[in-house]
Amino acid sequence: MDRLLDSLFPSAENIPEPWRLEAPLEQRDYLVNGELRRWDGPLATVRSPVWLKQGNEEHQVVLGSAPLLDADTALTALDAAVQAYDKGRGAWPTLRVAERIQHVEAFLARMREQRQAVVKLLMWEIGKNLRDSEKEFDRTCDYIVDTINALKDLDRRSSRFELEQGTLGQIRRAPLGVALCMGPYNYPLNETFTTLIPALIMGNTVVFKPAKFGVLLIRPLLEAFRDSFPPGVINVIYGRGRETVSALMASGKIDVFAFIGTHKAASDLKKLHPRPHRLRAALGLDAKNPGIVLPQVDLDNAVEEAVTGALSFNGQRCTALKILFVHEDVVDAFLDKFQRKLAALKPGMPWEPGVALTPLPEPGKVDYLDGLVADAKAKGARVLNEGGGHSRGSFFYPAVLYPVKSDMRVYHEEQFGPLVPVVPYRDLQTVIDYVLDSDYGQQLSLFGNDPATIGSLVDTFANQVGRININAQCQRGPDTYPFNGRKNSAEGTLSVHDALRVFSIRTLVATRFQAANKELISEIIRNRQSSFLTTDYIF
Ligand code: G3H
Repeated sequence: MDRLLDSLFPSAENIPEPWRLEAPLEQRDYLVNGELRRWDGPLATVRSPVWLKQGNEEHQVVLGSAPLLDADTALTALDAAVQAYDKGRGAWPTLRVAERIQHVEAFLARMREQRQAVVKLLMWEIGKNLRDSEKEFDRTCDYIVDTINALKDLDRRSSRFELEQGTLGQIRRAPLGVALCMGPYNYPLNETFTTLIPALIMGNTVVFKPAKFGVLLIRPLLEAFRDSFPPGVINVIYGRGRETVSALMASGKIDVFAFIGTHKAASDLKKLHPRPHRLRAALGLDAKNPGIVLPQVDLDNAVEEAVTGALSFNGQRCTALKILFVHEDVVDAFLDKFQRKLAALKPGMPWEPGVALTPLPEPGKVDYLDGLVADAKAKGARVLNEGGGHSRGSFFYPAVLYPVKSDMRVYHEEQFGPLVPVVPYRDLQTVIDYVLDSDYGQQLSLFGNDPATIGSLVDTFANQVGRININAQCQRGPDTYPFNGRKNSAEGTLSVHDALRVFSIRTLVATRFQAANKELISEIIRNRQSSFLTTDYIF
């Protein structure tokens, strides 16, 4: 392991040409009211999870810096969004759907041109491997295309009138106001855009603050945002949440809060809003998804899914399998196979072909994981796999902890990293109780092939989590499926279809079905005197 760690970090000249860094990027621009403005105040240093060898030493790479806006500057972005919304009378919220779609299509075309730049920064800023970074970019573009198609469908259905009990009505979805969108560092592009794009396309105006890591990778998209939307419709700010976002929430001018992060941060921010009843929230929060391996099981499949479920992107996914309950009858065989699969995962730098394990972006993360391991060991668990828990700089080699018990921190805490706690069980009721008593309720995975047991567990867990995966790891996709959670894990449901609804409200125009009213409505439509009352069909 020591030899592996010694050769893990490269020297600058060993980095393949397309992924080499140029000079550090000093970013001072932020986007307000259709202008890229320059920030002359303090900057935050942006560091990479990647370290580089220099002689006998290894140093963490500094990628550049990003603006640390103050509260007043953040509020200018909010003012621009408020003005562009103009109490719902702005050009953007009143634009015809077909025209809003054209703006988003223009943005998408410009965004696609930045693929290489964004992918490169994804690797350098958060350590995501090349394949997954490309996947994140492409999946985000696909999501935008699917969102456009879903909105066309929605609009086509709204283009007809309905007649109920003598009342003629047309129902359309209307925007809610100003949305604040914030994403997480593990999917700084994808998860943010799964709220940002639906918010925009439904006619809201937006203030967007990039995640705590994965900040610079938004820079290549700022011109595309600026040029594709009317001034004030999308504003991009940077800085510490405590300084900037707190001020936005406390202003009471945020109508929709789209946030992916911890439930504690979400609660603290929501509490700052002076009129919480007017704040709609779409939240993706903490999770501790269990994988439950039953005694009657296809072990090879369970191991395959559990390894990727627990360790893809080093376990830094909200949907990762964060604790494994394995029946005593199969636990030895499971652990043996699991360790062999884990040993085949290649550690390295994000751009290396086939690499699966990469350095971690969060400062202090390795110490935190060390602390969880030490606590589990002190209470009777062992690290089973060779090299498990060894670290170098920002890199932590995955550790399989066994046997994990309820008094250990890792049994309860969301490690969000490459630790695999395995709990042996005999009585399934202990596992059921874990799920019932858990503060989290995002997803879980069941591995087994006995129909009676699986059927009954599905019923037991259907009221506990948002998604039950059978013989498969937990995951968000496909993006057309609902993504949500219960308890501390989420508020609201996202999917291509649901997000359009989260960022809008059904609004009805109704009249009695009488000759004069029929004539009035027909005239409005014929003379195109309303954007809302129209039977236009989007092709
Ligand atoms: O971090 C949470 C993500 O929503 C997980 O998405 O399951 O596609 O990795 P994923």
